[in-house]
Amino acid sequence: MGTKNEVKALIPRWIPLLGGVLGSTTCGALLYAWSVFIKPLNAEFGWSRADISLAFSICVLAFGLITVVSGKLSDKYGPRIVVAIGAVILGIGFVCAGFITSKTQLYLTYGLLAGLGGGMVYLPPIATAPKWWPDRKALATGFAVVGLGLGSFIMAPLATYLINNPNYGWRYVFYFVGTAMGIMGLLSAFCLSNPPKGWKPKGWNPPAPPAGAAIVKETRDYTFSETTKTPQFWMLYVGYFCGAFAGLMVIGHIAGHGIDSGLQPMQAAMVVSTLAVFNALTRVLIGYAADKFGAKASLVTIMALQVAAMALLYPAGKEVVFLGVIAALIGWNYGAMFTLFPSTCLQYYGPTSQGSNYGLLFTSFGFAGLFGPYVGGMLKDITKSYYVPFIVGAVVVAISVVMIALVKAPPKKHV
Ligand code: 2OP
Repeated sequence: MGTKNEVKALIPRWIPLLGGVLGSTTCGALLYAWSVFIKPLNAEFGWSRADISLAFSICVLAFGLITVVSGKLSDKYGPRIVVAIGAVILGIGFVCAGFITSKTQLYLTYGLLAGLGGGMVYLPPIATAPKWWPDRKALATGFAVVGLGLGSFIMAPLATYLINNPNYGWRYVFYFVGTAMGIMGLLSAFCLSNPPKGWKPKGWNPPAPPAGAAIVKETRDYTFSETTKTPQFWMLYVGYFCGAFAGLMVIGHIAGHGIDSGLQPMQAAMVVSTLAVFNALTRVLIGYAADKFGAKASLVTIMALQVAAMALLYPAGKEVVFLGVIAALIGWNYGAMFTLFPSTCLQYYGPTSQGSNYGLLFTSFGFAGLFGPYVGGMLKDITKSYYVPFIVGAVVVAISVVMIALVKAPPKKHV
């Protein structure tokens, strides 16, 4: 039985969660299956691996930087319109990539257009889903990013099938999947809206202030400009950059490391799939844990585990089970960041400007995506071994651990 003044919502609150799953699955298909295109593009045009990988770097950078804008627009106009426009841009960019005849066209279609569209689809659900789940904020955030793992599971085998089918080929992957991504993004947009003002889940009340608290003043959320003036925000920024930089630097090389150390290609592929499974699973499960134990405590724990995992990665290469366990751990810790950083940001600064705040925080991922894989490849080329890049990865994540361990929640703002 509701009280007289209860604000009713027009939709059940699992609908925005579904919007998050659909939107993030679209982004997963965009980002995490790119490697399937390397071979066919090389075969058709003779472009080098580095040239083709540049398209991915442009895509990640565009994806990561547009989130400042898409987050702000989502705070201002609501998530639906932003995600819908993003879905159309993403779909058009991806489909157009099927018509390319030059590298520049690839960079503009898959890299720039699809990347920008992807960033517009990615951010708003992260800011929206927890507003519907104030009792399970981190879990809701986890659902809004879980599809980054799911999307690549669907995309990689589907794309491989189409590429190898004589009736289709790589161009059809862009046509078909681009259309499907556009539609899925629009469905996501349709599911997303902010809850009505004053709404809260039935039977749930915000946690009461601690017993014995002197005068209880009414608090308010940080504005975007206030958020960016706190040192905590920039400590999180550095922590996120370091975690993503090291993750992206190492993850792309795990298969190569296994093969160099004597594993069969099939075994190396299994290791990569293991990492992907854990990268997906963690996003929801760590959200569940963070709601119980706190986002910051969970973040420090997974980043500390990541230092250990990266330090063990080199010796693990010779033994498939050992490498599989380490890859699972790396995937788990890496994926957890995408739930825990937005959850910590939300906890520190409140939901009102979460789109703008997390949109800016997430640009650290864009920069990490640009530099991480490049630096990893360069260190491997110079030293002729994966030892140095993996140890550098462990050191960089250790910087992240220090940053996050030192950060303290900013003081509450009073009305
Ligand atoms: C994520 O995995 C986009 O890479 C980012 O959530």
